[in-house]
Amino acid sequence: MSEGPVRIGVLGKGTVGAAFAGLLAERADAVEATTGRRPEIAGVLSRSEGDFSEILERSDLIVELIGGLDPARAYVEQALRAGKPVVTANKQLLAQHGDELFAIAREAGVQLRFEAAVAGVIPIVRVIQESFGATEISRVFGIVNGTTNFILTEMASTGAPYAEVLARAQELGYAEADPEEDVNGADAAAKMAILARLAFHTPVSFDDVVYEGIETIQPDDLSYAKELDLSLKLLGIAERRDGGISVRVFPCFLYGGHPLAPVGGPFNAVMVEAPAITEVTMSGPGAGGVQTASAVLGDIVSIVSGEAPVHEPVVELGVVTDVSSSFYLHLEVADRPGVLARIAQVLGDNGVSVKSVVQRGIGDDARLVMVVHECLESRFAAAVEEIARLDDLRSPPRSIRVIEEEEFG
Ligand SMILES: NC(=O)c1ccc[n+]([C@@H]2O[C@H](COP(=O)([O-])OP(=O)(O)OC[C@H]3O[C@@H](n4cnc5c(N)ncnc54)[C@H](OP(=O)(O)O)[C@@H]3O)[C@@H](O)[C@H]2O)c1
Repeated sequence: MSEGPVRIGVLGKGTVGAAFAGLLAERADAVEATTGRRPEIAGVLSRSEGDFSEILERSDLIVELIGGLDPARAYVEQALRAGKPVVTANKQLLAQHGDELFAIAREAGVQLRFEAAVAGVIPIVRVIQESFGATEISRVFGIVNGTTNFILTEMASTGAPYAEVLARAQELGYAEADPEEDVNGADAAAKMAILARLAFHTPVSFDDVVYEGIETIQPDDLSYAKELDLSLKLLGIAERRDGGISVRVFPCFLYGGHPLAPVGGPFNAVMVEAPAITEVTMSGPGAGGVQTASAVLGDIVSIVSGEAPVHEPVVELGVVTDVSSSFYLHLEVADRPGVLARIAQVLGDNGVSVKSVVQRGIGDDARLVMVVHECLESRFAAAVEEIARLDDLRSPPRSIRVIEEEEFG
């Protein structure tokens, strides 16, 4: 980039775009003191304002804060091909088209930075790329969606049902008017695809991530969990497994002593594990206009300072789908002799062993809530399918994954 002021073209003036413009005005002196160049806005694009080609022509660097794939993808591609570095907060764009975009950036010899796309203000992209750049990371996992963490925390503390808590989250601005991508796990899946690519230096896209959301969680799952000293989180896990990698998002119970168990409300937290570092945990606000804008500004400072991370995938790792997990299993059964034995038999026949059980009578029926030891997910699924066919069952079984305490430390 040339000398003189850094002229920034800002695409989008919504929550993050407007906050970015405000933050830039406030922090321009600090950016100049750090980089030797003063940032200034060369133009702003929204649906009703600005022309992309003119803004691109006038800018040294483009900040993409529109979101979605179209037209964000075309604008980012054009900017990179024109030799202009790009900073984006757009996780879906990177998770679905990261490989093409990074290839264009490499070819053009310009940077594409995206700290704001993953885990709010937590500088996880920088830490993985730079601090752990030479570390063989075995697992990156955590709470990467603040909306669902807020909802699950509220459901656990108030006992209120999902729909009621979602409405409250929308009122408080923690959930969008259309919360689908947050609550069905797609937002977290996009972020985990980006983190997996960074951590394992292998191409990973959104389609490689297996994900589930929190829409079917019941208040009584959470009340039983309290008795078992478990707390529920929507977890994203990217890990090396059986010579390949597994990238998944799912609601998961954590034992009380787990480092992520106390992370509540709209916060995010990410853990990185590697033999050389044991484990590192970082947490912070998961979203918000000014918080996201701050991550964008950090990327601009890095670009102007001339730091240049490499985005070249170096290995092809297969995606492993059948992995081992521990599960919570909730069954409503007829309260009659031999039920528990029949269920235990089915679990045993499928190689699934029970760790703990809570049993409650409700009229003529009973609830059985159990936690089973880690087993292959396909075996557990086969057992649950068989249990669902027993005459003793009063409603379909419900299951949620559990991370056991002894996996850590
Ligand atoms: N909000 C957060 O807390 C947060 C956190 C992390 C990452 N992000 C990411 O940051 C990005 C922006 O999010 P946001 O919350 O700021 O979104 P937003 O409030 O919906 O703002 C989007 C902006 O893009 C403009 N826009 C939309 N379609 C356009 C088009 N076809 N041409 C030109 N401009 C267009 C809109 O124009 P109008 O003003 O004319 O409508 C608006 O100014 C997204 O990728 C999001 O995932 C957001």
